[in-house]
Amino acid sequence: MQTEDGSLTLVHPVFGEAYSSRHGAWMQANELYLKQTQTHRHSSPHVLEIGFGLGVNFRAALDNCVQRGVPLAYLSYEFLPVSREVLTSVEVPLGPQSQPVWAALLTHWPPRPRLPLVLEGFWGRLEVRREDVTAAEFPARWASAVYLDPFSPEVNPEPWQEPVLRRLFEAVQPGGYLATYSVAGQVRRGLEAAGFSVKKVPGVGKKAWTQARRP
Ligand SMILES: C[S@@+](CC[C@H](N)C(=O)[O-])C[C@H]1O[C@@H](n2cnc3c(N)ncnc32)[C@H](O)[C@@H]1O
Repeated sequence: MQTEDGSLTLVHPVFGEAYSSRHGAWMQANELYLKQTQTHRHSSPHVLEIGFGLGVNFRAALDNCVQRGVPLAYLSYEFLPVSREVLTSVEVPLGPQSQPVWAALLTHWPPRPRLPLVLEGFWGRLEVRREDVTAAEFPARWASAVYLDPFSPEVNPEPWQEPVLRRLFEAVQPGGYLATYSVAGQVRRGLEAAGFSVKKVPGVGKKAWTQARRP
């Protein structure tokens, strides 16, 4: 289906939700995840993502870093990767330097269990781990930004639970950010209990998003 900014997303057959905001998949990747985590200003961003999905957030971060000439380190967790055909069908407006990186990812897709997909190049490094985040290990104090992007807590509650949020807190560098589209009270309380300073920020199309920071 087409979102309001013209970019595509898909509705998951089991979870029954879209992979990205209906207000604009590319918009959300840029305005929420990239900007609300200050990744667009960081000189060496280290992004940890929950839910690689259609790779829209990755492509937005890649394109921004390539244009700024800064290296990107991107670690994403995905327990149910879509097929290569599906991933190929969801296009976003990528710049000419980013296009070959995405094409290389497509040739290696999907990641296999216990065998992360790793891509490296002039632009930086991507690792996609085919793991369930409720059982996954995260690198300590590694991330300058966490993109918390599972399906909603109503249909996909596991990744939003406090034990996962606490481990995400440990994975963030002091001063680092976490962003998510959910403003559910339970999510914000869980992030606070994990140690984050949490605030609601104005959303685009949607009333608000959540930005959290490790003090
Ligand atoms: C909203 S989509 C992510 C969209 C993606 N960030 C993008 O830019 O296209 C949510 C993703 O989280 C994944 N997911 C949900 N629960 C998970 C879990 N427990 N462990 C790993 N991945 C999970 C789903 O399979 C789905 O691909």
